[in-house]
Order: sequence, then C-alpha cells, then structure tokens
Amino acid sequence: MKTYIVGNWKLNFTVGEASIYLHKLLKKIPNYRDLEVVISPSLIALQSLSLQIDRHKMKLAAQNGFYRDYGAFTGEVSFSQLRGIVDYCIIGHSERRHIFGEDDKMIQKKVAAAMRNKITPILCIGETESERAFGETADVIRDQLIGGLSEVADDELEKVIIAYEPVWAISSTKAAKLASPDEIAEAMALIRKILAETYGEKIAEKVPILFGGSVNPSNAGGYLTVPGVNGLLIGGSSLILSEFADIIEVAKRVKS
Ligand code: PGA
Repeated sequence: MKTYIVGNWKLNFTVGEASIYLHKLLKKIPNYRDLEVVISPSLIALQSLSLQIDRHKMKLAAQNGFYRDYGAFTGEVSFSQLRGIVDYCIIGHSERRHIFGEDDKMIQKKVAAAMRNKITPILCIGETESERAFGETADVIRDQLIGGLSEVADDELEKVIIAYEPVWAISSTKAAKLASPDEIAEAMALIRKILAETYGEKIAEKVPILFGGSVNPSNAGGYLTVPGVNGLLIGGSSLILSEFADIIEVAKRVKS
C-alpha cells in the first residue's frame, strides 16, 4: 500500500499564493513512487492548480463538495463539477461536522456522491475531548465510520481512505494535545476491526487509514511507524512549504 501525505490548507492562501506554493513544491520534491502526496487548497484555487500540477508527483483534493450533482442549490459545488479537477475530497472533517453542522447522514451522501464521480473520499472521523473523557471514543469511531460508509458497497470500499483525527489533537483546537502512539494504535486497530466485521478482512486490509492532528516534521516519523498508520493528514504544518516538504522526506525515509 502507498503512504499518503495529505496537506489540508483549510481557509488559507489566495489563488496566487497557492500557485506559488505549488510551483516551489513541485521543484523541491522528486517523484516518489510509493508516496501519494496530496494537497487540498481552497475550492477557488482548484481549477488553476489542476492545470499547473504534475500528477506524477502529487494530486489535488477538494475540502468539500455537495452531494447532489446539479440543481437549485445556490452556493454549492458538486462532485460532478469537481470531477476531472481533483482526485480526492476530504469529507466529514471535524470542522465541517462541528462548525457547519454536518451529520453522518449528510456525510454518507457526500461519500456516495464523490465515489459516483470517481473522486476518492478521505473520510475523517474522530472523537472530541469530552467524548474521550466520557469513554465514548470507540462508539464515536464506530458511528462515524459505519454512518459515513453506509452507502458504500463491499466492492467499492477499497476506493475509500479513512482519516482518524481526534478533534482534541487538531492544532486549531484550543489547548490541543498531542495524541500518543498508543492512543493512535488503538484507534487504528479498532477502525480496521470495524471495517473487517462489516466488509470482510480481505477488503478491510486494503483501506488506507491516515492519522491527523498536530503533525509536524519532528513527530511525523514517529506517527508513521505507529502500527496501522498508512499516512498523515496535515493542517497547520502543511501551510509552511519547508515543513510540508520535510514531512514528505521523512515519510520517504521511514517507509522505504
Ligand atoms: P493540524 O490539522 O495538522 O493543524 O492539527 C489537521 C486537520 O485539521 O486536518
């Protein structure tokens, strides 16, 4: 399985800044066959970057998409419109769940719409600090995983990526804490187990599971060696070109 390094730029960079970043990053990194490097700029930059990007070196992800393909939905952008521009879409990020009120029902429709349009969903799941404190972590993971995937058929599951991002470890969360390797390993094992129970072991083994939450160049190597981790979803550190490039180098070293 490839190792995934995904940069989530959230609401940052103008179109011009995004283009300069991409230009520099393309110059800085070679084509690593076993690494899938993905950047997720804001929607407005996607089209121009899709013309600029070298898809042998990296791919583009959208940060969101709407679940209907067309119609009277003012302000939305559909996966059918994103088709051909991006290869991936982050779906169910905790900021979409907690700031924009997206629930598992909406997220499952988005996952289905992405797949219908040949876009690989990166389904984000993860518990909040209080859910963890109340011992609800396993239930939250199970509900968000089963809920988000409920429209995905068995033979389609291998086209999905899961990202485990405990909300309390995301750098923009007040007083974010670093997740420990044990906490991550436990979540990874649980996610793999739920997938195996639902879809069968063979299929479950093929699903990449990423970790995200305050990843930076100094902890990336450690996180990539946690059992079950197939890649990283990076927010803050991906905004600094040198740090993102360093994480890519670390991933190359650790996984080769
Ligand atoms: P962070 O963000 O790396 O800044 O913690 C991760 C994310 O929100 O995807």
